[in-house]
Amino acid sequence: PVYDSLVQCFSENKIPGDQISKILYSPQNPSFTNVLESYIRNRRFNVSTTRKPNTIITPTAECHVSAAVTCAKKLGIQLKIRSGGHDYEGISYVSDHDFVILDLFNLRSINVSLDDQTAWVQSGALLGELYYRIWEKSNLLGFPAGVCPTVGVGGHLSGGGYGNMIRKYGLSVDHVIDAVIVDANGRVLDRKSMGEDLFWAIRGGGGASFGVILAYRINLVPVPPNVTVFNVQKSVDQNAIDAVFKYQQIVDTIDSDLFIRVLLQPITVNNTRSVRATFIGLFLGDGDRLLSITDSQFPELGLKKPDCFEKSWIDSVLYWSNFDNTTSPSVLLNRTPDKVNFLKRKSDYVKNPISKSGLQSLFDKMVEIGKVGLVFNSYGGIMKEIPESATPFPHRAGNLFKIQYSVNWDDESEEADKNYINQIRELYSFMTPFVSSNPRESYLNYRDLDIGIVDDPKNSFNQGKVYGVKYFKGNFDKLVKIKTKVDPDNVFRNEQSIPVYPFSG
Ligand code: FDA
Repeated sequence: PVYDSLVQCFSENKIPGDQISKILYSPQNPSFTNVLESYIRNRRFNVSTTRKPNTIITPTAECHVSAAVTCAKKLGIQLKIRSGGHDYEGISYVSDHDFVILDLFNLRSINVSLDDQTAWVQSGALLGELYYRIWEKSNLLGFPAGVCPTVGVGGHLSGGGYGNMIRKYGLSVDHVIDAVIVDANGRVLDRKSMGEDLFWAIRGGGGASFGVILAYRINLVPVPPNVTVFNVQKSVDQNAIDAVFKYQQIVDTIDSDLFIRVLLQPITVNNTRSVRATFIGLFLGDGDRLLSITDSQFPELGLKKPDCFEKSWIDSVLYWSNFDNTTSPSVLLNRTPDKVNFLKRKSDYVKNPISKSGLQSLFDKMVEIGKVGLVFNSYGGIMKEIPESATPFPHRAGNLFKIQYSVNWDDESEEADKNYINQIRELYSFMTPFVSSNPRESYLNYRDLDIGIVDDPKNSFNQGKVYGVKYFKGNFDKLVKIKTKVDPDNVFRNEQSIPVYPFSG
């Protein structure tokens, strides 16, 4: 019935019948499962018990998106918006209620303008495609966004977006200069017509609370002809703890051309369990200048000339995505990742260095727990200079690094699911004394439904505040005000959307 009602409503909204039959997929359509699964990036949400959408809408034009919003509103059915499908909790394609998916993969054009060093990029494009199209025009321009090329522009940019140029250039949203969006009334608006408040909200507040973002206009950033990358591993015997300890002392003040990610992974070597620290770097300059910085400020890293690889920026994108150095940049146009795992992620922010004894206890705990890894991502640099209220993303000055908790698995059983999710929660709980508090901050794009959800519409404001202040701190109130103004009927809602103010009578 939902599908039939949508067909009728689309037709009332002047979408021609031949187009409707191409863009609406009912569960009976033989291609339905393929379309649904094409952008599922977490196998936890692709099991037999996962609730399926009542219809998938795959617009090829703006008017189809307007009709989708108008009709979902009219029918009172939840609309889930999907661009790249990388949401860690799958909230772009799963729901506990009847719902339809608005799947934007057909809207993925990218227009790069060298004249003003900007680009218009549609939400259904993936980061790899964006990087490739920029490189095609100039090897001296780039864009600061995520390191995984299959992440979608729609979710990534509306939720913040960081990558290995964060210390030099900040977040993706710091470079968004215009946008096109379909609002709760089905209107197509740009920056001028939507106004500065709504434009502020969709740069980090999560697009899915405010409208369907069709495209963003972004400023590109300069990159040198050659950058330097490295990957240095340290076992506990090779003073991993000293190196991680020192990393925390220099991470936010060292030259902002340098970004270092640290992976902490439990490993087994010769039947002995321990933790390995891997330092992965991007330096926006040559190897000699990099070494002069690390030798003087971070000798514990032990970085040597043979560890340093100078490459073009686009080749550094491939290096960071684990492609070997014979791979051509055209691999970035591949929209399908090699493998899709069962996974769970969580996040934290660290504001004070963890002591050496604290790190030792963390390593011991990771070995005891089993499989969960941690990723430290450097902050500081320009992130210290951008005010917390500049965009909804509030985690700026005062943070040394962000932690991502990470566990992947292949086993489809319910026990595996429970076991690994318990493991990651246990490590998160163990980290409480070392990380931010009041609120314990989280990164919206590292979606984590453990930190709160709305499941009672009558209490959505109070429930929404629980996760809202963790993701947005003091910006939460402004997001609620904007939400109440632009979408009072809460057309754009999900498990962790921005709530409207409760009716005050
Ligand atoms: P998806 O389509 O699942 O959407 C995510 C959310 O945004 C949903 O709520 C959805 O409804 C909403 N949304 C999507 N398109 C929209 C639109 N057009 N209008 C309105 N709302 C829309 N993050 C990061 O900052 N740096 C990184 O390096 C990485 N790396 C990374 C690697 C891998 C393998 C994964 C799975 C994820 C990341 N991420 C990340 C996290 C990533 O930024 C986050 O999951 C993004 O929201 C993904 O955007 P997609 O469009 O792919 O997701």
